[in-house]
Amino acid sequence: GEREGGRPFKQRLLVVANRLPVSAIRKGEDSWSLEISAGGLVSALLVLYKGVKALEARWIGWAGVNVPDEIGQKALTKALAEKRCIPVFLDEEIVHQYYNGYCNNILWPLFHYLGLPQEDRLATTRSFQSQFEAYQKANQMFADVVNKHYEEGDVVWCHDYHLMFLPQCLKNYNRKMKVGWFLHTPFPSSEIHRTLPSRSELLHAVLEADLVGACTRILGLEGTPEGVENQGKLTRVAAFPIGIDSERFIRALDLPQVKGHIKELQERFKGRKVMLGVDRLDMIKGIPQKILAFEKFLEENPDWRDKVVLLQIAVPTRTDVPEYQKLTSQVHEIVGRINGRFGTLTTVPIHHLDRSLDFHALCALYAVTDVALVTSLRDGMNLVSYEFVACQDKKKGVLILSEFAGAAQSLGAGAILVNPWNITEVAAAIAKALNMQSEEREKRHKHNFKHVTTHTAQEWAETFVSELNDTVVEAQLRTKQ
Ligand code: G6P
Repeated sequence: GEREGGRPFKQRLLVVANRLPVSAIRKGEDSWSLEISAGGLVSALLVLYKGVKALEARWIGWAGVNVPDEIGQKALTKALAEKRCIPVFLDEEIVHQYYNGYCNNILWPLFHYLGLPQEDRLATTRSFQSQFEAYQKANQMFADVVNKHYEEGDVVWCHDYHLMFLPQCLKNYNRKMKVGWFLHTPFPSSEIHRTLPSRSELLHAVLEADLVGACTRILGLEGTPEGVENQGKLTRVAAFPIGIDSERFIRALDLPQVKGHIKELQERFKGRKVMLGVDRLDMIKGIPQKILAFEKFLEENPDWRDKVVLLQIAVPTRTDVPEYQKLTSQVHEIVGRINGRFGTLTTVPIHHLDRSLDFHALCALYAVTDVALVTSLRDGMNLVSYEFVACQDKKKGVLILSEFAGAAQSLGAGAILVNPWNITEVAAAIAKALNMQSEEREKRHKHNFKHVTTHTAQEWAETFVSELNDTVVEAQLRTKQ
């Protein structure tokens, strides 16, 4: 079909996620700069900027800053519009209760099988109800913005654990709206999920969507192969393994500035093997476990001590949540101890960075790495493992991968799989990876590279949206009957 103006018809897609693909930094009363946000969700969704088939995407979400004044809000709205983004403004109190509290102190650790924060279980229990109310309120705020921008025929794709109430809020506005919901984290087993006081409200709200998807099998929802029945309505539920825009990484490696970075890094670490970790500084990533395993490796292999370096890029995240602050000091302490123990006057075994790298520096780092270490205690998919593989077609380095990352299902045959809790096993995997002959490395890389370049973010987005289009909206069902 065609729209007025003769342009080919593109279906409008409203992507709703707590975090917009760009985060805002205030430069003045009415001036803002935007930078790409961190995290797997954004990494996968960036592909929509390129245009996926016949989709015209717009984003609705939070720009990561508190903007209390009207002048600032107006200016930011305008700056974001150029990126096809529409802001949802959340005030400090909502961010505290909904984002820091319910989302990241309760749902996030629970969905990753880590239980509630160790030291303040009782405090969490007490603040549970008010945080849950803030969560519902925040979801309603997102729904209001979606509703304002929705046009008939649009499909609405809601993302992640922040927005489990959104499908219900949207259907309350308009039962004809096509609504999909995708979870980027693991869905915990029912034995874990049932400890949540609001367990059934959350599930019912999600099941108001027409299509529910996740990276891996959804354990918490029992149902038929076609879906789950919720109050007489069938919701389609399926796994849609996520991927990356592998082309973006592969092409970057040919850019002069990336080649420059690569050369610098090679010179800097000449004569040493490079091991790499890239993670948001999050307890689910198993960073202390990884570093302790590296220490054990150094302990057991004195010959390697001056021949290997571990670069750990730890991207700060959710820094107002106490558990994350504790983790930061814990990691610093371990790194300091190990560097003190094995460092020399001129070198240290671990380079730990508390910051993110820009895209080009990151690609270069992936490309010069000999062994990448992904030791998540649980992870939805873990796209860092995909990004590493995409950048390794020359070097054919080894991926050590946690069996608890979703990627273990897809990259397991090419990676060395480990239980990150077992430090002895991870230390042995490091030795195996560093000593691996090129023939075996090539074979393993080939398997992973093929997967990463064929199961891409494009494919993932297209499949989800096309399945969402194929679902029959309840309201239509009713008129047919
Ligand atoms: C994970 C979540 C995303 C989130 C990202 C970054 O990948 O699944 O929803 O955006 O982490 O975390 P942040 O709290 O900074 O948005």
